[in-house]
Amino acid sequence: MTSEKIQRVGVIGAGIMGAGIAEVCARAHVDVLVFEQTRELAAAGRARILRSLDRGVSTGKITEREREQAAWRLRFTSDLGDFADRQLVVEAVVEDEKVKSEIFAELDKIVTDPNAVLASNTSSIPIMKLGIATAAPERVIGMHFFNPVPVLPLVELVTTLKTGSTVARRAEAFAADVLGKQVVRSSDRAGFIANALLVPYLLSAIRMVESGFATKDDIDKTMVLGCAHPMGPLALTDLVGLDTVKAIADSMYEEFKEPLYSAPPLLQRMVEAGLVGKKSGAGFYEYA
Ligand code: CAA
Ligand code: NAD
Repeated sequence: MTSEKIQRVGVIGAGIMGAGIAEVCARAHVDVLVFEQTRELAAAGRARILRSLDRGVSTGKITEREREQAAWRLRFTSDLGDFADRQLVVEAVVEDEKVKSEIFAELDKIVTDPNAVLASNTSSIPIMKLGIATAAPERVIGMHFFNPVPVLPLVELVTTLKTGSTVARRAEAFAADVLGKQVVRSSDRAGFIANALLVPYLLSAIRMVESGFATKDDIDKTMVLGCAHPMGPLALTDLVGLDTVKAIADSMYEEFKEPLYSAPPLLQRMVEAGLVGKKSGAGFYEYA
């Protein structure tokens, strides 16, 4: 039972990350059921995945046949009750502890298999906070994918003080052997490894713009041309989503109370204005 191969995955949320996670699972020959709140959001999520699969074909990463087969493996639902037979569920909804905790509490009652893996793709919320929303925190783990999921090869695996070793092994084997990702392990504290390093850098770049110290173009150009980053910090903040970057900063600030993690007023104002980046059509830059 414990070594049973994971073949039925559920993904909760079909935004930037949920869509990417569902796509890589479908491309890895896994049956994928995706939850979205409404039919409209589900249709938008499916369209997002199909666009990315098309890009995979046009860049020669997958064949037309693989695209068709991956699309065929994806189903959508607006009823979490349909997740009862899932062996692994990856939650990828908005970076909000209350919303995620409610989902974990519900999921815990729906998925009865004691060896099922209940994972969160949270960027920063300590996984134990989600584990305690369930009656079986040994099933709860962090599986932190990176954006864009079909392109970036890493998963941060976050185990809590309560995560079962079998659950951790199953999650790691799925990420590595089925999805072909590289896995690193992080302890359970806000921001894990990647965002504890990345987010202060993004916030520093925003503070530079805010203070008029340098223009956004020059900041990004400096890091692309001078430090060989694939994109500058402001373009990267747009890619991640300003709302998500702010939520991550808030969560790390709550944990550590370090000024380093406090969201600058410009970030707060842009989120309030709906300028949340590429997904909304505008952030530090504009998108067609
Ligand atoms: N499916 C499969 N492969 C794809 C693809 C898709 N949908 N889209 C692109 N690719 C492949 C391309 O074929 C190309 O592969 P090769 O290098 O082998 O040719 C590669 O991905 C790059 O694609 P492009 O050349 O078309 O695009 P680009 O050069 O403009 O790169 C980018 C775009 C991948 C986003 C790159 O700029 C990048 O890596 N940026 C940094 C992203 C980053 O730092 N992400 C982490 C964010 S933080 C996070 O995720 C954690 C968090 O909690 C916030
Ligand atoms: P997104 O804004 O693209 O999508 C948010 C998703 O949450 C949508 O599917 C939306 O329908 C759903 N949602 C919103 N409110 C909800 C509610 N009340 N109940 C149920 N579902 C709700 O966000 P995203 O970038 O896909 O981020 C999702 C998760 O992935 C977050 O925890 C984020 O921190 C994490 N993450 C993001 C990135 C990134 O670069 N964007 C990278 C790694 C991890």
